[in-house]
Amino acid sequence: MLFSKYLGRLRSVLVVPNGDVYFSTSNRDWNPQPGFPRLKDDIIYRLHPTNILSKDPILPTKPEAKIAKSGKELYKAYCGSCHKENGEGLAPSFPPLSRSAMVNGSEQILIKTILNGLSKKEINGTKYEGAMPSFSFLKNEEIASIATYIRTHFSNQAASVNANSVQSNR
Ligand code: HEC
Repeated sequence: MLFSKYLGRLRSVLVVPNGDVYFSTSNRDWNPQPGFPRLKDDIIYRLHPTNILSKDPILPTKPEAKIAKSGKELYKAYCGSCHKENGEGLAPSFPPLSRSAMVNGSEQILIKTILNGLSKKEINGTKYEGAMPSFSFLKNEEIASIATYIRTHFSNQAASVNANSVQSNR
């Protein structure tokens, strides 16, 4: 918890007999966003007691208050790894959401796709290798924000979606 804010994703932790703690970071992705991987993404750290006081200590941070996230942030967190931040997807695995007939079409079909996931559908003559997972664990408001975001970005032009419509499609 103390380090993840500074160092990203942490993986294995090992305590050796003299009490030193080793841990590794794992910030590389099989499906990297632009600008990744970075040079210092994956490193093994050692924690060792010392009397030398750091000029720049890492101090515990208070847990952040939960603030509602925007459609853009939610899209980035839940959809961006596959459909990419620019909505262009990644052939032959993930279809683009940009100019997608489904995204611009009936809100009911779009909401059901986000809630239930999708697989083996042919989209514009292409069968995609991946499957789309279900996002029914997200709140109605969150799905409405994501749906509205993708319907009004990436060259798409469709009406926004509200939380009541999501609820009535559950
Ligand atoms: C793990 C990868 C993955 C994630 C994460 C993901 N999707 Fe998908 N999505 C897919 C795949 C693969 C398909 C195509 C599935 C098929 O038809 O075989 C797809 C299809 C779609 C389609 C249909 C596109 C069309 O033109 O018919 C929409 C809309 C969509 N996803 C929206 C979303 C949204 C919104 C999110 C985030 C809440 C999301 N996806 C997260 C992989 C993903």
